[in-house]
Amino acid sequence: MKDIICLTGSDEDLETAASLLKEGEVVGLPTETVYGLAADATNREAVARIFEAKGRPADNPLIIHVSDLKMMEEYADDIPRCAYRLADAFWPGPLTMILPKKNNISDIVTGGLDTVAVRMPSHDIMRKVISMVGRPLAAPSANLSGSPSPTTAKHVTDDMNGRIAAVVDGGECSVGVESTVISFEGYDSVRILRPGLVTAEELSRYVDEVIVDENILSDVVPEVKEVRSPGMKYKHYSPEAHVVLVRYSLEQFIKYVSAQPDDSLCCLIYDQDAENFPFEYMTYGSTPVEQAQQIFSKLREADKRGIKNLYVRSPEKDGVGLAVYNRLIRAAGYEVVE
Ligand code: TXA
Ligand code: MG
Repeated sequence: MKDIICLTGSDEDLETAASLLKEGEVVGLPTETVYGLAADATNREAVARIFEAKGRPADNPLIIHVSDLKMMEEYADDIPRCAYRLADAFWPGPLTMILPKKNNISDIVTGGLDTVAVRMPSHDIMRKVISMVGRPLAAPSANLSGSPSPTTAKHVTDDMNGRIAAVVDGGECSVGVESTVISFEGYDSVRILRPGLVTAEELSRYVDEVIVDENILSDVVPEVKEVRSPGMKYKHYSPEAHVVLVRYSLEQFIKYVSAQPDDSLCCLIYDQDAENFPFEYMTYGSTPVEQAQQIFSKLREADKRGIKNLYVRSPEKDGVGLAVYNRLIRAAGYEVVE
């Protein structure tokens, strides 16, 4: 395939992106969470190209991105009342809802499930392009399957050059980790399948009950047959570097790393840890929101720098920190030191 075309957010370039999508091509598009690998969700061949470009297993379903509620209602059925309440509170934004699907949405999008994942993104460019195409866009994160999600157009080009038609540069993603994914269980109850910027605490202001799926909290490799969201069972977000997640105070963290035999090691620590830090290091912000923004680009940077062993100071396991922690235990292949 030809070199990837790099487009800007100008009206003319967005028209080009929309035309490519209407022709069944795959285009990298910015969203507020991470860059997406988008195709017309109603075009089977186009959706098949997403799986091919990413090297993604066919049973891992995609999210469809809509520009308004009417578009959601065209493809989802039996939408619970509380879904509308949550849409009102969090859309457009980083929340994905698993809803019963209508028959007009292809099995290739949903991995053969009878539900479809729907999200209304807030990024201006993504919203404009969906409206221009006039159909929902199926889009997983625009990384090669298994590697860290892309938060800049450069990350997309690094992974996808020669694999997709074009990428639109919308700058750095503001959230940095993928959307919170929820399913509905019974009356006024939701289950978080993937943590994101929208936290359990925030959701619980709008519904009776919020369950955090046990696979999110567990530090062990999920039991393949038990996962409710197929994406949970795959190795994820991994850089080439060997990643170890260390859950200690700064003092204990330093002691732990000192005892490691590795020569080429680097640490990923909080901004506030950096003063007089005794090893080579990178930092990833000082708050959970900043850690979310930076985590994927720092994992990619570790590979650019040729780091072999990366010791990461673990984020907190609650609030937005849980989203960062969830990505890191997968990046570390569940190698967590408590
Ligand atoms: O922020 C995001 O959600 C980004 C941007 C591009 O919108 N997209 C994204 O897509 O992260 P992806 O494909 O990387 O992750 C979608 C997750 C996967 O874990 C998948 O298994 C799950 O959602 N999923 C999709 N459809 C589902 C369904 N019907 N039931 C359960 N889980 C589903
Ligand atoms: Mg992904």
